[in-house]
Amino acid sequence: MMSVTRRYRFSASHRLHLRDLSEAENEQLYGKCNNPFGHGHDYVLDVTAQGTADPVTGQIAMRHELDRLVREQILHAFEHRNINLDVKQFENSVPTTENIVLVIADLLKEHWSAYISGPARLSRIHIQETDRNGFEVLIPSAQEEMEQKKDPELAEVHG
Ligand code: NI
Repeated sequence: MMSVTRRYRFSASHRLHLRDLSEAENEQLYGKCNNPFGHGHDYVLDVTAQGTADPVTGQIAMRHELDRLVREQILHAFEHRNINLDVKQFENSVPTTENIVLVIADLLKEHWSAYISGPARLSRIHIQETDRNGFEVLIPSAQEEMEQKKDPELAEVHG
């Protein structure tokens, strides 16, 4: 198995704020990130496809297919947006980068097969928000998922 990671960038703004908490509680929880008018980040998004190099093309996944998927399904929704107001998935949830990377992972999973022609699978999504904050989602393969499902049963039998 090999993987290829493509890197994309987008700039967007967000505000960390929970509607159910008071102004003071929000400020205490999120500090500067609760600033009423939001703040921006230059996000770096890494998308990793896992597979083997195709014997003809010598590639795991076609770069232009990955680029089109990310451009149409992710960058179009996030680039130069106010994530709180412009991205419908955040109508009722707080756009921490933990939540952003989960939304992006779901969108990539949902649209993967419509864009990616070969057998490569989505295996990892990583977002660097600042120099110090990076967030990652690992997508288990079908086999890994089966093994994970087996585990609770084993625990029951042996527990
Ligand atoms: Ni922020």
